[in-house]
Amino acid sequence: MTPRKIIIDTDPGQDDAVAILLALASPEDVEVLGITCVAGNVPLDLTTRNARIVCELAGKTDVKVFAGCDRPLGRALVTAEHVHGKTGLDGPDLPEPTMPLADGHAVDFIIETLRNHAPGTVTLCPLGPLTNIATALTKAPDIAGRIAKIVLMGGGYFDGGNITPVAEFNIYVDPQAADIVFKSGAPIVVMPLDVTHKALVTAARNDAFRGIGSPVGIAVAQMTEFFERFDKEKYGSEGAPLHDPCVTAYLIRPELFTGRHINVEIETTSELTMGMTVADWWGVTDRVPNATFMNEIDADGFFSLMTERLARL
Ligand code: RIB
Ligand code: CA
Repeated sequence: MTPRKIIIDTDPGQDDAVAILLALASPEDVEVLGITCVAGNVPLDLTTRNARIVCELAGKTDVKVFAGCDRPLGRALVTAEHVHGKTGLDGPDLPEPTMPLADGHAVDFIIETLRNHAPGTVTLCPLGPLTNIATALTKAPDIAGRIAKIVLMGGGYFDGGNITPVAEFNIYVDPQAADIVFKSGAPIVVMPLDVTHKALVTAARNDAFRGIGSPVGIAVAQMTEFFERFDKEKYGSEGAPLHDPCVTAYLIRPELFTGRHINVEIETTSELTMGMTVADWWGVTDRVPNATFMNEIDADGFFSLMTERLARL
């Protein structure tokens, strides 16, 4: 089967980093056409730095990395250094990147790539706030019908929120952008906290990463050891939830996940519930389903896929 052509839109972030590494380790499944960076976990200058650090760690310096939007559509940027550390990639001690940023804005790259490929052949994989994707859809409405699928990490229903009681970080940072994306008509697969909180890096799983013994395996173990503090403290969980790698794993082995095709709308008015993904899981409205909302994962299968693939780098 030919590899799926993808654009990874990201705000690295340790979990974004693992998602990118998994994609770069899986050329038979995914062809990374480019990485577009957005402000989110940390400001844009750091997300573009971190994305290039990850590409160099993977030995893939030919990957095009673009700078995108440096703030949400209509709100002040909220970042998450309390989770990811000052650099956004705290944990491993990795060298500053030497590979250059690609010329041009990430939004234009997204538009041009979708226009230059046959409709239904390019998948967008947002791992951060949806600012770049929404800006592209607004600037070039014709691309909505050309997107094969949008497979994103964001939102939550049964698990509520992680930045407010009801909102997950990616959606909360730019709810207006999320509203545009969820109303775009493009096919959407959502990896919400309901499923990513079941993808926990337990000590044994982290030992398996470290046991790979390569710079990649060791760096991934160090990243998750750093980034697990927040969730262990807040939820008392057994380890870091690998949010963003759920997106990449879905592209490689979709059967690892189950969910429902439902209607999801975004709260963009009330500050109390700003950024909430109002998921009609029980079908109590007549709102048209617009997203496949995942809530179950084969966690053992997920981690053995990751360990096997990361060992290739
Ligand atoms: O809420 C988790 C999401 O927000 C992840 O994508 C993490 O990297 C941050 O962007
Ligand atoms: Ca992210």
